[in-house]
Amino acid sequence: MALVTGSARGIGKGIARRFAAEGARVGILDLDAKACQAVVDEIEAAGGSAEAVAADISAPAQVEAAVGKLRDQFGAINVLVNNAAVMPVGPLHETSLEDFDRLMAVNLRGTYLVCAAVIPGMIAAGGGSIIHIASVTGIIGLPRLAAYSMTKGALIALTRAMSTDYAAQGVRTNSVSPGTIDSPMLHEFVAWQSDPEALLRQYDAMHPLGRVGSIDDVANVCLFLASDEAGFVTGANYTVDGGISVKGEQPQDQAN
Ligand SMILES: NC(=O)c1ccc[n+]([C@@H]2O[C@H](COP(=O)([O-])OP(=O)(O)OC[C@H]3O[C@@H](n4cnc5c(N)ncnc54)[C@H](O)[C@@H]3O)[C@@H](O)[C@H]2O)c1
Repeated sequence: MALVTGSARGIGKGIARRFAAEGARVGILDLDAKACQAVVDEIEAAGGSAEAVAADISAPAQVEAAVGKLRDQFGAINVLVNNAAVMPVGPLHETSLEDFDRLMAVNLRGTYLVCAAVIPGMIAAGGGSIIHIASVTGIIGLPRLAAYSMTKGALIALTRAMSTDYAAQGVRTNSVSPGTIDSPMLHEFVAWQSDPEALLRQYDAMHPLGRVGSIDDVANVCLFLASDEAGFVTGANYTVDGGISVKGEQPQDQAN
């Protein structure tokens, strides 16, 4: 069984739907029970199998209850995608302590809590695949995302450390670092601008491949990392970013 956190919408929902389409039973974990159930209904209508487990990943008792419910009903969780996150916007000194604490509670404490609840069963079952959804902001600097970027860099470091700790037990740990992805989080991020459409076009142009990514672009790489085809892949950070993280200054065309 696969558990995807933050899977009631956006990238997490896309990953859950993709896994279900490949035959996996998927745990849909998000804050809102109704929204989780709506994704379950969608997956079941498409012929897949899913279970809703509403929880706040920053709350230990809720995480234990959600993971325990999946384990009791369906056995070990073989694939875990740590996708749920929040993204306060602004330079560091303008990020409120409240937003900062929530960011750490969800993006880092939440990842820790879900891993701690899932890993013993994964090891007992002989191994599995853990995927942290990080971000290019963990690799390069982008404006107004300082505090968020701290958490994404931390997830990339965590990926390397966990891959070392759990390799002998057959647990592979990798991260996926999306560039700008066309998701509800992106649309909320641009909404503060006077011309969100113009900003979206700028995001397209920022990526060397000439467009922002789709949710499927991310789900495809997660599917690979979860599969046996990635059986020798651990400790890696896969950028899914249209080349933005390796982009240098673009030279002007020069006659030579
Ligand atoms: N959209 C992008 O451009 C982009 C780029 C790089 C990385 N990412 C990362 O991809 C992941 C998904 O992003 P998205 O764009 O789909 O975001 P989103 O805001 O659309 O979805 C995030 C989901 O996580 C859930 N969530 C938030 N806090 C939670 C909590 N405490 N407990 C349980 N669930 C919680 C939300 O309810 C929501 O359904 C995030 O980790 C994000 O940082 C997104």
